[in-house]
Amino acid sequence: MHRKNEVCRVCGGRTFTKFLELGDQPLANAFLTAEQVKAGKEDKFPLDVYVCHGCWHAQLLDVVSKETLFSHYLYFSTTTKTMPAHFASFAKEVADVHTKKGDFVVEIGSNDGILLAAFDPRERRILGVEPATNVAEFARKERAIPTMNRFWTPETATEITRDLGKAKVIISNNVIGHIDDLAGVTKGVKILLEPDGTWIWEAPYLVDLIEKNEFDTVYHEHLAYFAVHPARAMLERGGLKLVDVKRFGIHGGTIRVYAKHEEAPDEPSAEVQKLLALEKSMKLDTPEPYLALGERVKKLRTDLNQMLADLKAQGKRIAAYGAPAKGNTLLNYCGIGAQVLDYAQDTTPVKQGLYTPGMHVPVVHPAEFRKSPPDVALMLAWNYEREILEKEAEFRKRGGKFLIPIPTPRLV
Ligand code: TMP
Ligand code: ZN
Repeated sequence: MHRKNEVCRVCGGRTFTKFLELGDQPLANAFLTAEQVKAGKEDKFPLDVYVCHGCWHAQLLDVVSKETLFSHYLYFSTTTKTMPAHFASFAKEVADVHTKKGDFVVEIGSNDGILLAAFDPRERRILGVEPATNVAEFARKERAIPTMNRFWTPETATEITRDLGKAKVIISNNVIGHIDDLAGVTKGVKILLEPDGTWIWEAPYLVDLIEKNEFDTVYHEHLAYFAVHPARAMLERGGLKLVDVKRFGIHGGTIRVYAKHEEAPDEPSAEVQKLLALEKSMKLDTPEPYLALGERVKKLRTDLNQMLADLKAQGKRIAAYGAPAKGNTLLNYCGIGAQVLDYAQDTTPVKQGLYTPGMHVPVVHPAEFRKSPPDVALMLAWNYEREILEKEAEFRKRGGKFLIPIPTPRLV
């Protein structure tokens, strides 16, 4: 179920600095039933982040098998308002700028089909590749998105090319960082991508993670924490070329990376040069900024626990707002459990009625929050801060407060 890599996934280097030690943790999406909580058996794996001295790629070396992680998946992209809007604009860009009528668009890790659903099926041919059977089925049945229930491998790419031809655009949203075999990913892209096609992928940006102490975005599924510099190294190793990059606020800070075959005539854009210079100025090619983050995260844990203890001492009722995967990293690392939190409210139906991995906080329907609001809501889904503050205007008007833990704990 678990093994430890000895070499860097991007450059094969063997020298690392370990800069975040989040302890042995259960899988962040492994919510438990009451029976499982009672049985008391829960698998835990080391959650440590390393940076490679060869290419400065930040990564996990502890790898949980992909079958364990992804065959059945509780993450559905569509549960919020923010993400569908982001995906709609992404799809529009792909349709307007990168493809024309009849072109073939493939998405790796298409989840519930939310992004592909934004394409007009009479204008573009679309295909999703999604390893989680339950999520792939949802995309097919509920959204009528052609979806292959498979992991992304060179074999998958070969099969698609044989049956459906090459793709003008390959998209991947927050999936490349989930895959251990990065060389296999780029190999598959090389096979399926048309000679003048574009591979466009998004991943959380390491610069944002460091600047905003977003340590909770670390969990076993996320093997990679990309900066532009190592992303370029990964592409070049795979016979591809980095041509453009854009920054977005989504998920606490995201980069959208545009790559072509190495033979393409395109030159890297000014934005690529700008972000490479930014990373250099932050000294991301030295251990210091990583180790400094490690120290800030320890302090965050102390400060957050102090604030929660003070609130409890004042007799305040506290609940978690959202039960996202990253919330479980935060709760487990800080040791915040059911003695502090009455419940965690979450809009995702499959999570409701279950208990959070590790700390065993019961997950409830948002109606519970309406019926029995706490005094303070710990905002674990802080990446939707604006959406949540807007939605909960009533709670706030009646004196309810949000405790937002990232980048540093504060009451709102
Ligand atoms: P994500 O950060 O991985 O997208 O997950 C967000 C989680 O937060 C997801 O489980 C849904 C939950 N959530 C709520 O419960 N209420 C909300 O208003 C929002 C925006 C998210
Ligand atoms: Zn490396």
